Amino acid sequence: MMKTFYITTPIYYPSAKLHIGSAYTTVLCDTLKRYKSLKGYDTRFLTGMDEHGQKIEEAAKANKKTPKEHVDYISKLTQELWALLKIDNDDFIRTTEPRHEAIIARIFEQLKAKGDIYLGEYIGHYCIHDEAFFTPTQLLPGELCPDCGRKTELVKEETYFFRLSRYQDRLLQYIEDHPDFIVPETRKNEVVQFIKSNLTDISVSRTAFSWGIPVKSDPKHVIYVWIDALFNYISALGFQADDDHLYQKYWVKGDEIVHVIGKDILRFHAVYWPAFLMALDLPIRFRLFVHGWYLMKDGKMSKSKGNVVYPEMLVNRFGLDSFRYFIIKELPYGNDGLFTPEDYVMRINTDLVNDYGNLLSRSITMANKYLAGTINERSHEMPERVFEAELEELSREVLTNYSRNMDEFKLTNALFDISRLIARTNKLIDETLPWDLAKKPENREVLESVIYHLLEALRIATILYRPFLIDTPQKVFEMLGVEPTDIGFDSAIFGQKKNYHVSAKPTHLFPRLDMEKEVAAIREWMNPSVPEATITENPLIDIESFSLIDIRVGTVRECTTHKNAKKLLVCQIDTGDKVRQVVSGIAEHYQPENLIGRKLLVIVNLEPIKLRGELSEGMILCGENADKELIVIEADGRLNPGDKVK
Ligand code: ME8
Repeated sequence: MMKTFYITTPIYYPSAKLHIGSAYTTVLCDTLKRYKSLKGYDTRFLTGMDEHGQKIEEAAKANKKTPKEHVDYISKLTQELWALLKIDNDDFIRTTEPRHEAIIARIFEQLKAKGDIYLGEYIGHYCIHDEAFFTPTQLLPGELCPDCGRKTELVKEETYFFRLSRYQDRLLQYIEDHPDFIVPETRKNEVVQFIKSNLTDISVSRTAFSWGIPVKSDPKHVIYVWIDALFNYISALGFQADDDHLYQKYWVKGDEIVHVIGKDILRFHAVYWPAFLMALDLPIRFRLFVHGWYLMKDGKMSKSKGNVVYPEMLVNRFGLDSFRYFIIKELPYGNDGLFTPEDYVMRINTDLVNDYGNLLSRSITMANKYLAGTINERSHEMPERVFEAELEELSREVLTNYSRNMDEFKLTNALFDISRLIARTNKLIDETLPWDLAKKPENREVLESVIYHLLEALRIATILYRPFLIDTPQKVFEMLGVEPTDIGFDSAIFGQKKNYHVSAKPTHLFPRLDMEKEVAAIREWMNPSVPEATITENPLIDIESFSLIDIRVGTVRECTTHKNAKKLLVCQIDTGDKVRQVVSGIAEHYQPENLIGRKLLVIVNLEPIKLRGELSEGMILCGENADKELIVIEADGRLNPGDKVK
């Protein structure tokens, strides 16, 4: 029987577009799922969206959408992002789906019937951003949330409480009996401290808003989002559904279950979640792996700070595999990591272009040049000197360390293991100087042995990269002429493949990046005045929504290049009502003087904003062709400044 492995990401709030930090959890889970699948496990990977609550209701309002429209839209964008990152999830749960809502409503009643949920009154502080309650002593000065620093709101309302206090001792006992329940150790210690500081009952329903699952027996209450959210891990498996075979297989009888979470949501997963399961007499089968955060030089990523980087931008410019490689490599186990554009470019150039890519192209080139691309079946004993023996030894050591690191979720260390193997292989070239060996026919066997060792090490390194890199391994195996029978984890043994016939010409796996140019490009995206990555498909809108946009004909009177942004033009446009200043990102497509006198279409009722210090009161309409050229839309000569476009 195959062992099972069930892995989950937290379900994401559809409140903001996902940046590289939030995408980290999902890429990490995907890498672990691929690793376990390659190891022969029967795997299941769940991700999804946490769509209820006050925070979402407010985000929808800010976007002038109903909550349902809002969550549908963001959920679609999120799934598009996962498709772009080639995330291989088996299910995507949304907490607004009937399969989930029905179960949550029922669970609430079950907890109520058991006396674990009771009615009371809550007076205290609530942080909408974290969807969490705090006592006055927990707050930062100024009634700020201790987790995110935002202003909390004072809540006084009738509420249902969950008897968390009842589970204090059982939780401590559980953690003691299961030393691997929470990793890393430091996070476990935090949880133990928190529990020992005395658990109080928690409020688990709200009456102040309605975007949530109603309490069946008392529908003016909606169920607290964290009860709603945490149970996604089993509702998605069909818990309490007519067909619950996935729940039985992956949860009740499952071999390994891991919830991967960021450090900010530890308390909910390590205290509330097991307590809810205990209250329902359900098995606690999961482990928690808690990772740190990606931070920027000036602290947390935030749109208002103008320091956010979105995955789409990096993937579209530099490729998927380098993105996945970087974000896993740069966040050390259990700690926070810093994102800088310099590190991004440098990491790709050193690890992927220089060390791995060059090793591959040099090895293939030499195999072709000196051995006509072929190393025959090793019928004879190849001479093996100390260098080659050392490489073989290291490949064994690397495999052992790599597997241990992957099993302990130390993915960064596993990547360092592969780098060690690659570095040692590169060193073999320096030690043996194949071009010198090739000069004397009597060295043929030694030369063959050296090249064989290079190719074999590359094959093993590439197998170990398989959970991390998506498209690259296949390309490498094709160049090396490795058949599917020799790419599995059990084939990552030196000497497994006996002969080689490599492709005639290596292709570049990763193009070398120009540090200055690419760092500048990433910095430019981080500028808040640059619009977000384009959204591929927009939802339908009705005619009333369209008529809210006021488009007028306008004649450009003056136009100059923005003094602080070479991509922007600053135009003075006569739109009938006045001459307004409009800043437009078309400087790469038009010389300023070529726009003067043209009659264009301008949106005149956009909220004025400052772009790099210049006021912009509108937007010039352009079309974008297949070559990504922006072309202004010109009005017919019979139209005059101020004429309305409808
Ligand atoms: O917390 N670096 O959702 P969420 C690394 N809905 N990880 C980061 C990060 C960063 N800069 N920013 C966010 C929620 N994350 C709840 C979960 S589960 C039953 C409910 C991580 O969208 C964060 O730590 O706010 C969390 O693990 C995940 O992104 C989703 O965060």
